[in-house]
Amino acid sequence: MTASFPIRFQDLEQQAQDRLEPKVFGYIQSGGGREETLRTNETSFEKWQLVPRFGADVSTVSLDKKIHGETIQSPILLAPVGMQALANVNGEKASVSAAHKFGMPFMASTVSSYSLEDIAEACPDAERWFQLYYPNDEALAKSFVQRAEKAGYKAIVVTIDMATLGHREKDLTNKYSPFRLGKGMSNYTNDPIFQSYLRGYSQEDVLAEMQKVFFKPDLNWQHIQQLRKATSLPIYIKGVLHPDDTEKAVELGIDGIVVSNHGGRQLDRCIASIDALPLIKARVQDQLTILLDSGIRSGPDIVTALALGADAVLLGRPFVYGLAISGQSGVENVLENITNDLTKTLQLMGINDVNQVDHTFIRRMSTPEGT
Ligand SMILES: Cc1cc2nc3c(=O)[nH]c(=O)nc-3n(C[C@H](O)[C@H](O)[C@H](O)COP(=O)(O)O)c2cc1C
Repeated sequence: MTASFPIRFQDLEQQAQDRLEPKVFGYIQSGGGREETLRTNETSFEKWQLVPRFGADVSTVSLDKKIHGETIQSPILLAPVGMQALANVNGEKASVSAAHKFGMPFMASTVSSYSLEDIAEACPDAERWFQLYYPNDEALAKSFVQRAEKAGYKAIVVTIDMATLGHREKDLTNKYSPFRLGKGMSNYTNDPIFQSYLRGYSQEDVLAEMQKVFFKPDLNWQHIQQLRKATSLPIYIKGVLHPDDTEKAVELGIDGIVVSNHGGRQLDRCIASIDALPLIKARVQDQLTILLDSGIRSGPDIVTALALGADAVLLGRPFVYGLAISGQSGVENVLENITNDLTKTLQLMGINDVNQVDHTFIRRMSTPEGT
């Protein structure tokens, strides 16, 4: 690890802030509304306490996990984060290469700075998943998925919490919208269906066309059902927080969910993902793979999520800050640091295989009222 590279999350965030334009940093760091969700995402982990056990040989620790039948080298995946060239010119190409070094799957966003094909070409051997913002156009939705399949992506992750953009006070104050500046359009402009819609070729036309198809406020289970028929790849639904929403997912043959509030960027005063997890796990049992994100910052955070029923977690802002600080090597530093923290956490808990983590290793902190 680079000697001076920040270890503490606060230092990581600070150094990223030092390197980025204020409005760009604000876009990455901020949350929706008054940022209550953003804050609770981190503090909610502190309501839980880990209970270590004695006696296991922890001289080596296995982090291997099986996810929809495939082994990944760590219970950590890189969350879909759009427009990564805002943080570093190499954007997703740098992050996917870093993820591959650690055997962590990389989720490419629909609104990536580079097209899904360019990301695949940058690191063909990486385990890559494609995150779909279901477009308001069926032919385009199908085309995105077919392109992802063709380019070797291993799963489709449909994000369901983007009916509209969160009311992000910082961005509104800064009058900053990377979308309106035309960032994150590569997957659209490289799409044959999208290209066929372009009447002229001015930048304004392209932007207007993208804004027409980007949001899909009427997205519902029928679309998910269509998607299920359109691809044989595993499908995950990202943004599930209510146990009832898992039932339809099971019925439709969906493979997994991401318990997520989008890192606090969408609905403010939203339940923290970690607080939504126990009831979701109780309902789902083993019928779906459960991933979780929003507020993962440390090894103990990961173990808490696994103990409450997640199969693996997604890392968001921390790796983007690493990218902003020093590109691919910055992402690698972040991934190395959190892997070390996770490994030590497991050793100190008396666990030598991450698959052993279960609810017996965790207690909810008791309050003076005993609640
Ligand atoms: C700058 C930024 C851009 C994001 N872009 C997307 C996106 O394109 N698609 C998506 O599903 N989620 C997106 N997310 C949400 C992440 O996938 C993830 O849910 C969130 O970052 C996890 O929370 P954390 O940042 O606290 O780890 C974005 C998050 C950030 C910080």
